[in-house]
Amino acid sequence: MSNANEKRQAGEAAIRYVEDGSIVGVGTGSTVAFFIEALADLRHRIQGAVSSSEQSTAHLTRLGIPVLDLNAAGPLSLYIDGADECDPHKRLIKGGGAALTREKIVAAAARKFVCIIDSSKQVDLLGAFPLPIEVIPMARSLVAREIVKLGGQPVWRDGVVTDNGNWIIDVHGWRIADPVALESELNQLAGVVTVGLFARRPADVVLLGDREI
Ligand code: 5RP
Repeated sequence: MSNANEKRQAGEAAIRYVEDGSIVGVGTGSTVAFFIEALADLRHRIQGAVSSSEQSTAHLTRLGIPVLDLNAAGPLSLYIDGADECDPHKRLIKGGGAALTREKIVAAAARKFVCIIDSSKQVDLLGAFPLPIEVIPMARSLVAREIVKLGGQPVWRDGVVTDNGNWIIDVHGWRIADPVALESELNQLAGVVTVGLFARRPADVVLLGDREI
């Protein structure tokens, strides 16, 4: 099956986790786009969505799904999002679409995080996909030098500005044996806004196509 078909299946299967009357946390990306399309059919049964990006907000709004502010919504029962890599412990690399900061915030606010992927995202060890890190622009070189000291090869995603007005560094060359420790270490660097490792708060459920793994 093609990746696009598996993404569609995963996006549609995630609908079964949506509870009537709830506010749904919505991630970003092409897999989530299938979820948003399916969610539109249920729009009269939910209060609305909290969005993780301007891209998803535009999609939700276009389909008539109310987009709510997280501060007003409070704790969420559910967050649905894709990933760039997923290991056997449901730890993720995210941020290929540069939306990692708001994604991490909405994931943190949710009781259940359902990650929707196709089989190309499944890995034994995280790190073949370059690890995205959102940085305050003035700290780009400082953070890059610290990453080199930690053995990574930082590449500035030139021309990309996040929804928060920041920049992205993609780190190549890491095979991440202890993602929780690396996430914690990188979080301490001055100028780092968000690390695209979702290991301290991994997914609770992973849907590969329509199958829970
Ligand atoms: C965006 C993300 C996405 O979830 C990730 O890049 C996967 O995207 P796609 O579903 O298009 O493969 O983290 O920041």
